[in-house]
Amino acid sequence: HGRGHAHNHAAGDTDRPVGFGRLQRKEDPRFVRGQGNYTDDVVLPGMLHGAILRSPVAHARIVSIDVSEALARPGVRAVLTGKDLEPLKLAWIPTLSYDVQAVLATDKVRFQGQEVAFVIADDRYAARDALESIDVEYDILPPLVDARHALDADAPLIRDDLEGRTDNHIQDWECGDKAATDAVFAKAEVVVTQEVVYPRVHPAPMETCGAVADFNPVSGDLTLYETSQAPHAHRTVIAMVSGIPEHKIHLISPDIGGGFGNKVGIYPGYVLAIVGSIVTGHPVKWMEDRSENLMSTSFARDYIMQGEIAATRDGKLLGLRADVLADHGAFNGVAQPTKFPAGFFNLFPGSYTWEAVHGKVTSVYTNKAPGGVAYACSFRVTEAVYFVERMIDRLAIELDMDPAELRLKNFIPASAFPYDNKAGFEYDSGEYEKTMRHAMKLIGYDELRREQQEKRTRGELMGIGISFFTEGVGAGPRKHMDILGLGMADGAELRIHPTGKAVVRISVQTQGQAHETTFAQIVAEEIGIPPEDIEVVHGDTDRTPFGLGTYGSRSTPVSGAAVALVTRKVRDKARLIAAAMLETRPEDLEWEKGRWFVKGDPSAGKTIQEIALAAHGTMQLPDGVDGNLDAEVTYDPPNLTYPYGAYFCVTDIDKDTGKVTVRRFLAVDDCGTRINPMVIEGQVHGGLTDGIGMALMEIIEFDSDGNNLGGSFMDYLIPTAMEVPDWETGFTVTPSPHHPIGAKGIGESATVGSPAAIVNSVIDALRPLGVTAMDMPCTPARVWDAMQGHAKAP
Ligand code: CDP
Repeated sequence: HGRGHAHNHAAGDTDRPVGFGRLQRKEDPRFVRGQGNYTDDVVLPGMLHGAILRSPVAHARIVSIDVSEALARPGVRAVLTGKDLEPLKLAWIPTLSYDVQAVLATDKVRFQGQEVAFVIADDRYAARDALESIDVEYDILPPLVDARHALDADAPLIRDDLEGRTDNHIQDWECGDKAATDAVFAKAEVVVTQEVVYPRVHPAPMETCGAVADFNPVSGDLTLYETSQAPHAHRTVIAMVSGIPEHKIHLISPDIGGGFGNKVGIYPGYVLAIVGSIVTGHPVKWMEDRSENLMSTSFARDYIMQGEIAATRDGKLLGLRADVLADHGAFNGVAQPTKFPAGFFNLFPGSYTWEAVHGKVTSVYTNKAPGGVAYACSFRVTEAVYFVERMIDRLAIELDMDPAELRLKNFIPASAFPYDNKAGFEYDSGEYEKTMRHAMKLIGYDELRREQQEKRTRGELMGIGISFFTEGVGAGPRKHMDILGLGMADGAELRIHPTGKAVVRISVQTQGQAHETTFAQIVAEEIGIPPEDIEVVHGDTDRTPFGLGTYGSRSTPVSGAAVALVTRKVRDKARLIAAAMLETRPEDLEWEKGRWFVKGDPSAGKTIQEIALAAHGTMQLPDGVDGNLDAEVTYDPPNLTYPYGAYFCVTDIDKDTGKVTVRRFLAVDDCGTRINPMVIEGQVHGGLTDGIGMALMEIIEFDSDGNNLGGSFMDYLIPTAMEVPDWETGFTVTPSPHHPIGAKGIGESATVGSPAAIVNSVIDALRPLGVTAMDMPCTPARVWDAMQGHAKAP
């Protein structure tokens, strides 16, 4: 993602040799030389291959499945159906939201692409070919495609497998204060109503999901290579589900070709690879293809949001209401902490002060693939940000006010932090006005408005869109946040070898974010060992401490904190050893990067390398000090961190075709202390490209029979270098007060923040034609419709 020639307004970022700074990525040499090791690269002796037969229809009762012909084909070793899994209690598995999901359908199929049978054969081709010989008789049922009709009295009942179920309702959730919000609306001078739809999209990582399972019937050990963003949590859940003891499971997540939330869940294919290995006595590999990934393996978003905003005539924000209908598909597999059934939608008040807010989310089943994964965002933060930033612009149109001015007038002031957002979340720090003004200056906002005025007189369509977002990233704390009961905390272990080289073991899993580089930089910053002397180990349950993994930009806020603290623990221990070496008291020593020295006598000191050797050597160590320079910690974050940013998008629309061109895009991000500005820019470029995809082209739609219309890259369009501008970036630094190094997450800011800026820009371009709203994706056809006054949105 992202092109090479981006402008960076970030001059002034430090370029320090040790610790923080623009260090090149340690992992890149192996990737650019073709030495990456992905799950599909794993080849084990005697390995067999699995393929999944999927339902061609969205809703049907299974009358019969005949696998005899498939079994008779050359190279086929076994064919599994739901009936074979029932005695193993593996026909159904728990989802991340305490629902159950079918591994292989036994009674009904509930979405197009659902898993029906699993063929294991000598090679991938034999397995695929045999799928066509399986004869399934379906009794077709009416499908429920439109979530807006899910609760109708005559809607087909999807989850008749659940005891006592009579409708498709999953859950209602609320936040804020309804009565106070009603009162605010009653007195407001201006009230604007707007529907805002965040359509179903897909993370579509370059590498699809897959697993290689190797069960040893003699030792009872299961080795599982898996595309997993959360190896430890997966191992625990697989132990619980399969009955294989946890200490007998070794889960390895090798290199991952992009996760974006797609690799958080436990998919039927993983379970089938395990069962396949147990049944055949051979290692079994399962890798899904692109269409399987797009059709079956977890969608994102699908939120239909009714918004109402109340304000004074001169633009003081008063109240905000959100009433959301959430389409969760056929199984409630939404990824979120247990107490947060609407994820972090609590962030919907955004970056502004309100007298009162009220949010409500109702989730329903439909005959679509399950998911609701946090696609490059902290659970439902993206939906919340998109909602509020569209609503603010809608109000600006109503008030005929500049959208930048409206935002500036209502920002939470820097003095008000920590800030209770009235929807249950406490923002840690922010200087919103400063960041906004910095961005306006960098993009030349006033000049752009003048250019737009001039173009409008010539009938040209130019738009300027703004999004000012606040994210909450870095889940826990563990007492509030968990996945299936596992508290959100992360471990770190640091060992300094006798020669002063180090290895740090972490529980998060990089999927391209450069953890092998940046986590070494945190250790380097804290203890003065150069980053190239520090190995980062991750993605292997036998070699790393327990922790909840990487999603929701939690690596730096949680694991990064763990790494800083474990390094400080080692530094404290080094102080005791250095004092013994220098025959002085620990209190008399002072730290400078890389060494302890005697206060007032800088020449008397010991480097961390000298101390490491002494720790493992022959000297008499002080009482209570073990003969090593190692430590471990588990970090339980006290709160989320709240990164934010000011994004500006300039679009031009072709009057004759409706085609939108993003001419300029400026992202000014504040992620607190910046570890590696180059990595941060890379994260932002990728996220902005994702944002262009969602705003302009990506959508998974269904026809009235429930056929998925986005099941390949011919239909589900993702952006390429052709559609993206040269990104412009900038930054401000407002450290998190509760994070050991003041860092907030950055991995997902751009995906979260950018779609609203782009769509607001398109609407702004179309303002002279009377357009006030439009839903994503702003494809040429939709924009053309809007230009003709036919837009679906009011
Ligand atoms: O959890 P995930 O790695 O996806 O997201 P993150 O914690 O935001 O980190 C993404 C990458 O940016 C990591 O390599 C971080 O170390 C780096 N980063 C940084 O250099 N400075 C920050 N303040 C935040 C992240």
